[in-house]
Amino acid sequence: MTTEFYQNTYIQHTFAERIGGANYGKDTNIYKFEKIKRAKAAAKLQFPDVELIDMGVGEPDEMADAGIVAALAEEASKPENRGYADNGIAEFKHAAATYLKEVFQVEGIDPDTEVLHSIGTKPALAMLPSCFINPGDITIMTVPGYPVMGTHTKYLGGEVYNIPLTADNNFLPDLDAIPEEVCQRAKLLYLNYPNNPTGAVASVEFFTKAIAWAKQHKVIIVHDAPYAALTYDGNKPLSFLSVPGAKDVGVELHSLSKSYNMTGWRIGFIAGNPLIVKAFGDVKDNNDSGQFIAIQKAAAYGLAHPEITEAIADKYSRRHDLLVAALNEAGFRAVKPQGSFFLYVEAPKAVQGGPEFRTAEDFSQYLIREKLISTVPWDDAGRFIRFSVTFQARGEAEEKRVMSELKRRLTDVEYIF
Ligand SMILES: Cc1ncc(COP(=O)(O)O)c(C=O)c1O
Repeated sequence: MTTEFYQNTYIQHTFAERIGGANYGKDTNIYKFEKIKRAKAAAKLQFPDVELIDMGVGEPDEMADAGIVAALAEEASKPENRGYADNGIAEFKHAAATYLKEVFQVEGIDPDTEVLHSIGTKPALAMLPSCFINPGDITIMTVPGYPVMGTHTKYLGGEVYNIPLTADNNFLPDLDAIPEEVCQRAKLLYLNYPNNPTGAVASVEFFTKAIAWAKQHKVIIVHDAPYAALTYDGNKPLSFLSVPGAKDVGVELHSLSKSYNMTGWRIGFIAGNPLIVKAFGDVKDNNDSGQFIAIQKAAAYGLAHPEITEAIADKYSRRHDLLVAALNEAGFRAVKPQGSFFLYVEAPKAVQGGPEFRTAEDFSQYLIREKLISTVPWDDAGRFIRFSVTFQARGEAEEKRVMSELKRRLTDVEYIF
């Protein structure tokens, strides 16, 4: 039986309002990522012999370091690692605390009470609202951004207040512009630096201000930091937890997905305020039974080898240099980000003598259809497209070839901004 058949049964009328109630699945709006997927498929069908340059992917192009893979293989064969991991093993928690100290100079994290593993950062963001949000409470999110904590806030009957990230404020939220009424009802503030999609990094000054703001308004800060160790050109990795007072107001989420090329392995951790970590552990215990112990042990090996991330960051830095040069030659105003693998650049309004673009999404669709270049558009605060330097290329020569092909395709028209 098809989905359409079951839409005429009681199942269709049983869905919760949070996912659309009786209208679940009937919404004809096509969402951004689905549109990109469809446009890519159509372009490939139309031009089967032309290489599609995929700058839209948000995950690493390489597999995890051989040492991490070897550690997994060894640990996976040990019978003692086979069972439920519950809230995690001490070895991983200790490795995480040491990693915070070695890479980010975060002192004084107690691995037993101030760290817990998570099955990636995404489920941690999904679970944290359950610790704090009652109906009517507010979570403050930044847009453009990664929306998971806001989505779950709404699932629980809470509300989301969005703060725009704009170039004139270095893509940092202007906390002073949040209305007093919102501050009073807010329980959570989501921050994410280096930022997806803007590539912006935070500063000690910004975090210091955010901590003071959080204390004043009694709000918890959740700093989502999956790109924290991917910084360039002398920008040292910065942890929110290294700033005095951070542990009084919040937690930080780390992930091995991007910094260790381990997206599919699903491993990360939460660290910071012990009471928040404890509550997270209680909610987590009711959601999952922990990540496979062999993966936790392989991840602990990775955390003890931060040079693995440094090599990955060097590669992305090199690719960013090539991409910025190519885009600027094509007339864009691209600036190398200080962190993350994303380059966020303003979308043109039109092509000279050619189509006009009402939105960044229009332009992104044009790039896929006409140039076979895939990007991700953002129209939440201005009109921008996001290029990711995780495009498929083995070695420097191949990277240069892809970049010169990208430049060739972009420079045969003139863009109007
Ligand atoms: C800002 C941000 N947070 C969280 C995640 C999820 O990461 P993980 O793989 O650790 O769940 C991503 C992944 O794209 C992200 O960009």
